[in-house]
Amino acid sequence: MNMLNDSSRSERPRAYHILEEAASLNHTSAKRMVAIAYLFGSNGLPFRPAVAKEFFEQLAEEGDSESQLYLGFMHSFGLETPPSQAKALISYTFAALGGNHLAQMALGYRLYAGVSVLHNCEAALDHYRRVAKIVEQSSTGQSPSGTTVRIRLSDEYENPSKSPSNQLDDDLYQYYQFLADKGDVQAQVGLGHLHYQGGRGVQQDHTRALNYFKQAAQTGNANAMAYLGRMFLEGGKTVPQNNESAFKYFQMAADKGSSVGQAGLGQMFLYGKGVPRDYEKALKFLTLAANQGLVDGQLELGNMFYNGLGVEKNFKLALKYYKLASKQGHALAFYHLAMMHARGIGTQRSCANAVDGFKLMSERGAWISEINEAYQDYKAGRIDQALVRYAFLADLGYEHAQSNTAFILDRGESTLFDRNQSLARALSYWSRAASQGYVVARLKLGDYHYYGFGTEADYSTSAFHYRYAAENDRNPQAMFNLGYMHEQGYGMSKDIHLAKRYYDLAAATSSEAQVPVMFALMKMAIIYGFEYLNHFRWDNMGQAGTVLQKVLGPDWDLYVMSFLAALIAVLAYVRRFV
Ligand SMILES: *[C@@H]1O[C@H](CO)[C@@H](O)[C@H](O)[C@H]1NC(C)=O
Ligand SMILES: *[C@@H]1O[C@H](CO)[C@@H](O)[C@H](O)[C@H]1NC(C)=O
Ligand SMILES: *[C@@H]1O[C@H](CO)[C@@H](O)[C@H](O)[C@H]1NC(C)=O
Ligand SMILES: *[C@@H]1O[C@H](CO)[C@@H](O)[C@H](O)[C@H]1NC(C)=O
Repeated sequence: MNMLNDSSRSERPRAYHILEEAASLNHTSAKRMVAIAYLFGSNGLPFRPAVAKEFFEQLAEEGDSESQLYLGFMHSFGLETPPSQAKALISYTFAALGGNHLAQMALGYRLYAGVSVLHNCEAALDHYRRVAKIVEQSSTGQSPSGTTVRIRLSDEYENPSKSPSNQLDDDLYQYYQFLADKGDVQAQVGLGHLHYQGGRGVQQDHTRALNYFKQAAQTGNANAMAYLGRMFLEGGKTVPQNNESAFKYFQMAADKGSSVGQAGLGQMFLYGKGVPRDYEKALKFLTLAANQGLVDGQLELGNMFYNGLGVEKNFKLALKYYKLASKQGHALAFYHLAMMHARGIGTQRSCANAVDGFKLMSERGAWISEINEAYQDYKAGRIDQALVRYAFLADLGYEHAQSNTAFILDRGESTLFDRNQSLARALSYWSRAASQGYVVARLKLGDYHYYGFGTEADYSTSAFHYRYAAENDRNPQAMFNLGYMHEQGYGMSKDIHLAKRYYDLAAATSSEAQVPVMFALMKMAIIYGFEYLNHFRWDNMGQAGTVLQKVLGPDWDLYVMSFLAALIAVLAYVRRFV
């Protein structure tokens, strides 16, 4: 067992093979760990969801809440069993009652989003608040950035050249390193910071961070001094904790106007770390830092006003500073704001706002690292394993995971389900992601109902989703589709004037839509031109449409469009040389 918390990961597969033997002897926790490894095909064990399910069922019988959680997920996703949201709900409820945090998250999400249960904000709030509190007390919730890369597979697919938005390119990293070695101070501080926090694809490495900060500090860089102060204050393997050194570096940095240094001093005075507690000085330095826009300063000021530390309690000011910090994405700021919204302190009580904040905080829990695992699986071609992991996170409420689950199912990359089953599942995950505001998923919902993927074809539901995307997100694709549906009279009255309005709107919203819109309008002009002629005047000319149909078949309008497209291309080409 001790091999498991051995820091070397290479030992894990061996440890899990020993666990496998223990599991066969009916050892409860060995069995659970093996079952989880089978479910995700992780830790050197094979991907065997059927056996996992058997183990989970046996353990759930005995009241093991973690097994109930995974069993709930298998019912929800329909893995080795037909999907059953009712059974999932029961398992999740038992697991949550047993104190399982992930089950509380899954339930919170279901209640909030109204997935197979009536929307109930207060109940969701109750679950999310518990989980958020756990995350707040752990260290993972504290770090504003974290090392997780939330990648949308669909974005990557569309822009394969672009590395994940958040990821530092290898070449760029080498370039910075080159600059840093040449003595470029900004590059040294930047690299030091990257290695200090870890993230954007760069390994956390405090030894390197220390070296870069030291080099930069020697040339008098204030931020490098401040970060050295941070390293001394935190202490660790590389730098032993030392309050005096921390204070010294913070002070040097603060004197040079570094906001990081000011916040460091402020925090030392606020919490009495190595110096006598002094709220007045804390307030002074934190205000300096916050005024320079430093998120830590804003958060701590929020805390001072919220708790009345050395100042009169002032909820309005607390709210102001928490809001400023939340704008910079600090999870703790969202947590405190959620607390205020939940209790109606300093602001109007709002269950929805409170849940949003607690949900965000909950999603920063240690379990977020699973997103990286899923992505690694996907990149390594372990598609089924990636799918199961994403689907699990999707059930916990992560929108990225919902989109990625649907993406993999949509593209038919997994071997777990046949095409119909995949599309039916994809539809439900697109639907969840769309409700969380992801517009691409909303368009997919429109498409699925239009073509009848995973559901009956239904133009009016399709139009509903396109209209939603057009109105709420001003999405040009949705406008174009609505134009087309009006033109054809699919799911709505045939109305070429409205069609034209939507086409024009799409073109006005996005320059990329202008070319397709031009063709659509030209095609409409021709068809309806003919129709118009047919009905009213010049019967002979009106025959042209019928003749074309005879010669070219029922898709003659498409041929005309292609012909016009070719003509325009030729004209543009010719014009270039005139
Ligand atoms: C390793 O596991 C043992 C027993 O589960 C636990 O007591 C100990 O704290 C763990 N050590 C680390 C470094 O996690
Ligand atoms: C495993 O243990 C449980 C509880 O002790 C028992 O009910 C079950 O029959 C055992 N299974 C096997 C295969 O021994
Ligand atoms: C630094 O200060 C903190 C808080 O006052 C204290 O707990 C810690 O022991 C001090 N560190 C050292 C190395 O003295
Ligand atoms: C998939 O669904 C379609 C439409 O409902 C049906 O016609 C087809 O037979 C199904 N295919 C399979 C393999 O079940």
